[in-house]
Amino acid sequence: VSLQGRNTLHVAARAAAMCDVRSADQLPEAFELAQMKGLEVLVLGEGSNVLFAGDYPGLVLHLGFDDCRVLSEDGDSALIRADAGMRWNDLVHWTLARGWNGLENLALIPGTVGASPIQNIGAYGVEVASLIETVEAYDRASGRIKRLDNAECAFGYRDSRFKRERDDWVVTAVEFRLGRHRPLQTGYAGVPEELAAMGAADASAVQVAEAISRLRTRKLPNPALLGNAGSFFKNPLVPEAQAEALRTAHPGLPVYPAGQDGLRKLSAAWLIEQAGLKGYRDGDAGIAAQHALVLVNHGHATGAQLLTVARTVIDTVRARFGITLEPEPRILGAAM
Ligand code: FAD
Ligand code: EPU
Repeated sequence: VSLQGRNTLHVAARAAAMCDVRSADQLPEAFELAQMKGLEVLVLGEGSNVLFAGDYPGLVLHLGFDDCRVLSEDGDSALIRADAGMRWNDLVHWTLARGWNGLENLALIPGTVGASPIQNIGAYGVEVASLIETVEAYDRASGRIKRLDNAECAFGYRDSRFKRERDDWVVTAVEFRLGRHRPLQTGYAGVPEELAAMGAADASAVQVAEAISRLRTRKLPNPALLGNAGSFFKNPLVPEAQAEALRTAHPGLPVYPAGQDGLRKLSAAWLIEQAGLKGYRDGDAGIAAQHALVLVNHGHATGAQLLTVARTVIDTVRARFGITLEPEPRILGAAM
């Protein structure tokens, strides 16, 4: 089965088999089938955060259930439940259209609801972990659906229990706590300017989503036109002293709070750009000219070629700054 249309890097990898799961109840059967055939299993959403370094010798599961509904509401707050197969951006707009806000800063992130807790998607100052009350997931070991509260998900920056225990869980649904008047987060660089350009002085949540969607469209290459998986590397978290020393040596380096004591977050895009790799190209594999954190496929790059470019970036940045960048997407079929 070809996976080329199922990953946003447009890598022409193949899977041994594929199975469409219509409801969470069908998961045990799908895993039994895989076991009978001796195949490992990969849950694939929109493939916007995966790099197939080679063919996938297992069974790819596609989750076809995509309902959402309000579970409960009391005045100012609502609990909203969405199935894993729903498109993330559709959920954002579904909630906003009903007057529930909270997800506006996460507008236009590609992918599915089920993948949103995996790496705790985040953008423009908001992480989805701050809105998730419960994740419902199929526990492959016991064959049962379990409900995990926010603390049990162990969310971190581009990280969660599900990302670490990646062969143990299939996320089946996510429940979000949203509000009528949650405070809007409009401080991220570029957002106030975009809102001003829209003439939205006293912005609504819908306008914040619109401003962020415009910014994203300008800043990131569109995967439909240029294969990519968004940020290919995480912004590195380093000890405060190391961040200070780097900043002294390189005054332009952006340094952000890390949300963890004693640590700071650096801009990986800046490190890559300063290392001279923005727009770098080796055949059809390269680094976007538009944004230094984005690995791109200009046409027919293989997963192995893309991986080679990623390794060049890691080695060059390490030699120049002493920082080892970590990939953000799931890499299948190779170790970094
Ligand atoms: P996939 O790529 O299909 O899967 C990713 C991983 O999650 C795989 O390991 C897969 O096995 C696992 N997985 C998927 N669904 C499930 C499930 N139901 N249960 C268990 N495991 C599952 N991310 C951000 O955080 N912020 C951004 O701003 C952002 N911008 C992006 C911009 C572009 C242009 C692109 C291409 C990507 C961007 N991303 C961003 C990355 C990506 O959109 C997110 O990681 C998204 O959540 C991936 O969803 P998906 O359905 O495509 O997951
Ligand atoms: N920068 C450069 N060169 C570039 C691009 C950016 O030097 O080519 C510097 C600039 O100084 C800029 C700073 O990097 O101010 C930050 O850039 P940007 O606002 O684009 O954010 P980012 O840190 O590169 C992160 C997330 C994105 C998310 C944006 C917006 C990670 C790994 N990436 O990128 O998430 O959309 O912030 O919040 O944390 C993703 O995860 O796939 C993703 C796209």
